[in-house]
This record gives sequence, structure tokens and C-alpha cells, in this order.
Amino acid sequence: DKGNHRHFMLKEIYEQPIVVAQTLKSYVRRLEEEVSLPIPDFDLSAIRRVTIVACGTSFYAGMVGKYWFEQFARVPVDLDVASEFRYRAPVMEEGGLALFISQSGETADTLAALRHARSEGQKIAVVVNVPTSTMAREADLLLPTHAGPEIGVASTKAFTCQLAVLAALAANLARAKGRLDRREEKEIVRHLSEAPAAINGALAYDSAIEAMSGAIAVARDVLYLGRGTDYPLALEGALKLKEISYIHAEGYAAGEMKHGPIALIDDKVPVIVIAPTGPLFEKTVSNMQEVQARGGKVVLISDYDGIQAAGEGCMATITMPKVHPLIAPIVYAIPVQLLAYHVAVAKGTDVDQPRNLAKSVTVE
Ligand code: M6R
Repeated sequence: DKGNHRHFMLKEIYEQPIVVAQTLKSYVRRLEEEVSLPIPDFDLSAIRRVTIVACGTSFYAGMVGKYWFEQFARVPVDLDVASEFRYRAPVMEEGGLALFISQSGETADTLAALRHARSEGQKIAVVVNVPTSTMAREADLLLPTHAGPEIGVASTKAFTCQLAVLAALAANLARAKGRLDRREEKEIVRHLSEAPAAINGALAYDSAIEAMSGAIAVARDVLYLGRGTDYPLALEGALKLKEISYIHAEGYAAGEMKHGPIALIDDKVPVIVIAPTGPLFEKTVSNMQEVQARGGKVVLISDYDGIQAAGEGCMATITMPKVHPLIAPIVYAIPVQLLAYHVAVAKGTDVDQPRNLAKSVTVE
């Protein structure tokens, strides 16, 4: 049932404040200001390396997770798309943790990678949205997302719930490794707990995003740029757009533009820049200005301060609530999803059932 919404995708975008809050309940104890795991006695302290494997949007969640695991827990992370993982003869230390992320829990490539990692002596953790799925059954550490059934082929609420779980898992790992003091743990819990309200704040910009979608719908190519954890978000934005609107889109690390892709820039290629204020803001903005200097039409997604500082000369701006960098990828996922959605609606494509795609990919 789509409720009042025209498509499942839009309904699922709007469910995010609730389902992210629901998911967080299993991973943070708000009153005690502690992070926790659904299996409390699972010992993470001996883990020296994490191998993350997934496909598509779940892979981009994993990419954000890599930043967090390395930043908080100082544990090195290998990251692969599942369809490449086994074929590069990956080195997995005895006792490492292999982490598989999948909305469906049935994706064939990810499942084959899971079984390969198991045969190499890895502990198996899975982040899945379907608790009865094959991956859930084969896990040592089951980390459910509580997004509820996701019907739209384009993954939305599963993604933000995956991010919530990964942030909490990174904090749990950091604590188990003695790298998180009480004050830091409390702060992480506080920031994560702010995510649902901030997502609501982001949703309030829906009609403004709809209003600008026509300008993107006429484009043949669109670029997305971001740095740090906003780089995977740029990749996710591009995937979402190509998947449902069939417009060619690419995501790049903002600093990589000058190494080639900037040659593509002219006034017909909209460039979506994802740049919350924070430690990476200035650098991203200077990459954005390089694009503008070549006639590129920029849509800047930032908070009020960021738009004030750098919004001039942009084709359009999207204002997000001001949030801590930890939850920025969760919150900035919303405008990226809404933009793809409204562009697809403007183009008249089948939003919930895009051509050539299935919800669950069960062939390798
Ligand atoms: O069920 P999974 O999370 O394993 O699926 C992985 C990808 O097939 C999936 O994320 C796909 O990229 C989505 N259609 C993206 O919106």
C-alpha cells in the first residue's frame, strides 16, 4: 500500500525518520548513552581487520562504513564489490571479520562472497533488512536493519538504515578495542539520536527539490561530487539518478575532477555538489569553483552557512539542516533520493519498476 504517495519510492523516502529511529533502537541505548549490539556478548576486541563486501547501494553504504571503522576504531578495512571479491584472491587473516551488507539478504554475488569468506576462516557479520533471508541464516553476527519491506527497486530507506547500523557498529568496535572513551561514546549516541529529526528537516525541502527537477530532467549527463563520506554519497546519487531516470550520471571524489573528468564540463552538464560545512568544506568548494569557472552549472547541497559562504553563482541550492559530520551522510541521502525521484517523475519513467532491473539480483 502506497498510502497517500504516488509511488512506493516516495513513501519509502518519507518513512526514513521513523525507520532510522527504529533501527537505532537496537544499536544505541539512549538513556544510558551507550552504543550496543543486538548480540551483546559478541566479542569484537580481537578483530584486527574488516573486509566489507556488497553490491550497488549497499556497497556505497559499506564505503561510508569504511571511513567510520578506520576513523573510530583504527581497524583497517578492505572493501570490494561482491562480483569482484573472490576473483582477486583476497587475503584474509585468520579471525578477521567479514561484513556483508544487503537489503534483501539474497543477492547472489554477495552470498557467494560470504561463503568464500567463511571457507577462509572469517567471522561472518551481515547487515540485512530481511531477517529471514539466506544471509541472515548464515551469519555469526546478524545486524538487522529495521527499514520494513522495501518495494521500490531503487533502495532508499534500506540505505539510511544500513548507515545507522554501520555507524553504531564502528563505535562498538572502537569501544571494544579501547579506542573510545565515555565522553566520545556519549557524543556519538547524541549525534546518532539527532538523525531522525534531521532527516525530517531534510524532507521539508521536498517541494523545492521538485521545483528544480525540470532543469535536471533535460540534461543528458549529470555529475555528482563529494569528499570524505560524501564521496560515496555522490556515487549513490549518480546510481539513483541513472537507475530511475535513465540519465547518464557519474559520481566523483571532488578532488579527482582535475585529473580528467573536468574535461566533460560545459553549460549542459549539471554538477551536483554535496558539501556540508565541516573540515572538508573549503576544499570541496574550491573544486566546485573550478567547475564554475568552466561554465558548469552547479547545484550546491549544503547547510545554511555553507550556502551563504559559497552559494552565489550556483544554478540552484538545496539547504539542509546543520548536522554533525557523523550523520551528514544519513541526512544528505534524502535530497539525493528526492532529486532522482522528481527527475524520474518529470521524465515519466516507471519509478518503482525501472526497466531492466529487479529488486533482488539472484544470478551471479
Ligand atoms: O539486496 P541488496 O542490498 O544486496 O542489493 C544490492 C543492489 O542490487 C541494490 O542496492 C541495487 O543497486 C539497488 N537497486 C540500488 O538502488
